[in-house]
Formats: sequence, C-alpha cells, structure tokens
Amino acid sequence: MSNEPGREQWASRLGFILAAMGSAVGLGNVWRFSYVTGENGGAAFLLIYMAFIIIIGIPIIMAEFTIGRKAQSDAVGSFEKLAPGKPWKVAGLLGVAAAFLILSFYGVIAGWITYYFTNYLTGTLWSAPAEGYESFFISFITNPTKPFFWQFLFMALTVAIVFVGVKKGIERSNKILMPLLGVLLIVLSIYSLTLGGAQKGLAFLFTPDWTALTDPNIYLAALGQAFFSLSLGMGALITYGSYLSNQERLPGAAVSVAVLDTSFAIVAGLMIFPAVFALGMDPASGPGLVFMVMPDVFDSIGFGGIFGLLFFFLLAAAALSSSVSLLEVAVAYFIRKFSWSRQKASLIIGSIIFVIGIPSSLGQGVLSDIQIIGGRDILDSIDFIASNIFLPLGGLIIALFMGWGFKKADALRDSDFGETTLGHIWLFLIKFVAPIFIFLVFLSSIGLFN
Ligand code: TRP
Repeated sequence: MSNEPGREQWASRLGFILAAMGSAVGLGNVWRFSYVTGENGGAAFLLIYMAFIIIIGIPIIMAEFTIGRKAQSDAVGSFEKLAPGKPWKVAGLLGVAAAFLILSFYGVIAGWITYYFTNYLTGTLWSAPAEGYESFFISFITNPTKPFFWQFLFMALTVAIVFVGVKKGIERSNKILMPLLGVLLIVLSIYSLTLGGAQKGLAFLFTPDWTALTDPNIYLAALGQAFFSLSLGMGALITYGSYLSNQERLPGAAVSVAVLDTSFAIVAGLMIFPAVFALGMDPASGPGLVFMVMPDVFDSIGFGGIFGLLFFFLLAAAALSSSVSLLEVAVAYFIRKFSWSRQKASLIIGSIIFVIGIPSSLGQGVLSDIQIIGGRDILDSIDFIASNIFLPLGGLIIALFMGWGFKKADALRDSDFGETTLGHIWLFLIKFVAPIFIFLVFLSSIGLFN
C-alpha cells in the first residue's frame, strides 16, 4: 500500500513497541484498574478481566496492528483503503468519537495526578494536612475552578507532544520512565504487603467469590477495563501500526504489550489492596481510591515524600504517553480528512477536548447532583459510554472485519503468522470467540442502563 505524503514512520522496531506499551500503560493500570476492581469485588472480576485479555484482547490487538500496518492510514482511513465503500469504517468513526470522550476525562484525572505531584514537590503532602488526606482530596476535586488549571496544564503537554509529532515526541521518553514506574510499583507493593493488610488484600485479589459471577455487571466492567487498559477498540493501535514498516513481527509485539500492561495492573493491585485493608478503607470507594490510599502509605515511610514525588511524577509521565495516543487518533484523522496541518489539528482538537472535559470536572463538585447513567456522575457516565460501550463495539467490528472481511490466506500473511497453528487459533478467536463473547456481554447487560 502506498504511503500518504507527510506520514511519520517509527525509527526502529523498538520505537513502535515502546509507543504501543506507552499507550497501554497509564492511568488505566493504576487509577482505573484499582477502583474498578475494588468496586466489582476483586478476585472474580480479576479472573474475568484476564480471561477477556487472552481470548478477546490479544486477538484484537493483532487485528489492529495488522490493519494499520497494511493500510498505512488513520483509524477511519485504514478501513476506507482496505474496504472502499463498505460500512466497516464506522469502527473508525466510533473510535474517533471515543478518543474525544476518553481524553476529555483522562485529562481531568491526569490533572489531579499532576496536582499531587506538585504538592509532593513543594512538600505540602509530606505529612498529613490538618484536615487529613481524604478531605484534602475532596476539597480539591470539588473546588469549582482549581482543577481546571491542572487539567489545562496536562492537556497542554499532550498537545505539545502531538504538535511536534508522536515519533519525535515519545519514541524515546518511555524507555526510561516506564521501567522506573514498574520498579517503583514493585517496591511499593512489597512495602504495602508489610502493613498488616496482606492477608485480606491478597484474598480480595486472588480468592474469588464465585457468586459474583452471576452478576452481569462485572462482565461488562471487565470487558471495558480490558479494552481501556490495552488502548483497544478505537483505532489507537491501528494508527500506531500505520507508522510501521514491514520489519516488525506483529504477534510478538501484541503479546508483549498485553503481558506488560496486565503485569502493571496486577502489581498496582498488590500495592493498593493490602494498603486499603491495612488502613481500614473500603475497596469500593470509587475513583478517588488511589488518591486517598497512597498518601497515607507514603506518610508511613520515613522520607516517604520521596516515594510520593516519584509515584505521582512517573504516573503523570505514563498518563502522558497514553493521552498522546488518544489525541493522535483524532489528530491523524483530521490531518488526512481535512488536510489540516499537524500543528493546527493538535491545537484545535486539544482545545475542544479540554472544553468537553470541563463538565466531568465540575461533576465532582458543583454539578455533583447530575447523574446520567445508573447513578453515575458526569465523569463516570462518559467513561461508561466510551469505555464499556464504544470500545467493545469498535472491537467487535474490528474483529469481524479481520475475521470475515479478509481472505484467510491474506489475514495469516498480513499478520506475520503465516500458516501456523497459532495463526489458525488466532483466526478462530477473531472470527468466532471474540465477537460472540462481546455480543453476549452486551446482551447480558441490557437493563443496566437505568
Ligand atoms: N490504555 C491507557 C491507560 O491505560 C488509556 C488509553 C490510551 C486508551 N489510548 C487509548 C484507552 C485508546 C482506550 C483507547 O491509561
């Protein structure tokens, strides 16, 4: 396939893998994973989440990489190029819409992280503020104006990177910071296990309450979490795959991304839940969980402020390489579709997304009475629609396109599997298993919307 003029290419194989990993590892692994796992009862949820990653996630990562590399275009353009005039491109359009929605609230939460980082930098949170860590958090997020500054700052950083181009912007940055975050999470989880809540925390994460499996809620939540955490279902990995030339072995790359991403989530769980029980908190406390638990943990370590500083800094960096991939999906589409320059597209779209995020931020405070879906506030509702509906739906269409819109031999060749057993297993998963499971999860959760 011919390349569109002015498109980037990753400089090396490593550049692509690091970018895909940087996209996957972010707030989804720490902030979202811990509170969603906490709200859904722990181990049973974790089990379903991991099963979905294996039978749905990895096969669809492969599909996105394959489609992107073959078409050398953005989330929408790739479908137009490979299947002109066919309706498959709705997956791409859904993806662009999801990018706007997800980044709108992602910027809000990442802003909170950035705020915490600066509070560790200045020393404010090295010991508990007079009102305590929880009230400090609540009074910050309910403040009608203060969070905007931090949301704006984070979005500005995201725009700045996409403005110069993802390749220049992130190809190298994550080579150092992501491993550091991994090491820090491991150290903190070992420490967390010594705080007295190890037994309860481990039981919560690894001893399933089988009765929870009868609740359709947890399947939808696990599916949404799998897609969100893997950056899947909205063409982010199609877009990144499209900056790839032919030398990469896609199956290895797909499995590495999934294994790394899942490991980050599990280690984050090992860090949070023992601490939650040691502190006598409720695992189902919701989106504020990390912000309310971790400062207490740092407080209990001598010079723990250093850990707080590193934790929020590295998490902000991880969030940045994820937010960049979200913005890039929309920017790449607008550049091609409307012939905008990269600079114009990143500035305009970044600004629009910042504005869309404002209600999510206000929903923590002055607009907290507004509940849209099943008692969820504005931020949670947008997250629910984008992550639990749009992403799996996009993934369903991508799976069907790969499984049924490609000739078998083409799919095997374009994915680098060739005529191997693994290749045939992948085709079986992508043709039947992934679509049927996504469909069944949707079916079982009709009725959850009110
Ligand atoms: N996966 C990222 C995280 O865990 C978030 C993210 C980045 C994302 N790009 C995405 C989610 C594309 C869905 C689709 O923080």
